[in-house]
Amino acid sequence: MGKKVTVVGAGFYGSTTAQRLAEYDIFDTVVLTDIIDGKPAGLALDMNQSRPIEGFETKIVGVTTGTNGEGYEAIEGSDVVVVTAGLPRKPGMSRMDLLEVNAKIVRQVAENIAKYAPNAVVIVVSNPVDEMTALAQLATQFPKNRVFGQAGVLDTARFTNSIAETLAVPVKSVKALTLGSHGDTMVPVPSRCTVDGKPLSDLLPAEKIEELVVRTRNGGAEVVALLKTGSAYYAPSAAAARMAKAVVEDSGAVLPVCAWVDGEYGINGVYLGVEAQIGAEGIKKVVEDKLTDTELAGLKEAAEAVRAKQADVANL
Ligand code: APR
Repeated sequence: MGKKVTVVGAGFYGSTTAQRLAEYDIFDTVVLTDIIDGKPAGLALDMNQSRPIEGFETKIVGVTTGTNGEGYEAIEGSDVVVVTAGLPRKPGMSRMDLLEVNAKIVRQVAENIAKYAPNAVVIVVSNPVDEMTALAQLATQFPKNRVFGQAGVLDTARFTNSIAETLAVPVKSVKALTLGSHGDTMVPVPSRCTVDGKPLSDLLPAEKIEELVVRTRNGGAEVVALLKTGSAYYAPSAAAARMAKAVVEDSGAVLPVCAWVDGEYGINGVYLGVEAQIGAEGIKKVVEDKLTDTELAGLKEAAEAVRAKQADVANL
């Protein structure tokens, strides 16, 4: 049967994600929803008109939904739902400042997903993503493997881009990794970074690597400060679309994502940025790899930081 993906939220992140998913030309239908009257339908029409130029057959369907679930029939049968609904940051804000307002939105969206697309895999991108992912799982009551969040693919791409620019090498020469939270306790993992197979530590002094680590951790804020209105969406949508593709293609790709961790790295019962194998059922398994003592300590610190906040979302 033809594949169907829904993107909830037709703002910058959602609309670019829908466009990327459609341009893959692997879905029958991309549904794009928003609460703003006409916006998703207008964007869908515009994207459909690009089909003859870009040469893809996927149809984009734009639907306005109501807070009581009006319009959600359109998402029925979705294999994957990407949740982008929610406010973005303004300069000076941390992702955590969005917690309460986005929790209300994500809870309502998740309840409707559970009702209308009970078999879907859910990919959450709304911020703060570690908490919104935990909330989406709570509100859908889906198995934990079927709900995960986007952060690590983006943070890794930012780290990779900075390394490639610093060393003036193609991005494809660089392998990098970030784990942990999508925030202050992000854990870029220099020990897993290589350039044409050579360890990053052989190519750059420790202070320079630390500078790149810090820049990666602040990668989102750097874009927000320049844009002044809204947050990043080109790299974020590329990341979310890749993850949805790995699900529908049942690819088994290992990607850094916000996944339910229960035992790996000695960490229990928390949504956290780790590497995981992605397939039709969502997370096939969390993949553990070697970390230095400092990196492992950073990951554990991230786990405790997000655990405290994830406990709060139950009441939001
Ligand atoms: N259902 C569907 N869409 C909603 C809902 C809802 N209940 N509530 C809000 N939206 C929509 C808004 O109408 C808006 O069109 O979500 C969209 C958000 O779009 P933008 O303001 O452009 O924000 P964007 O840059 O897309 O970021 C979305 O992703 O990276 C995160 O921090 C970011 O949480 C933010 C989210």
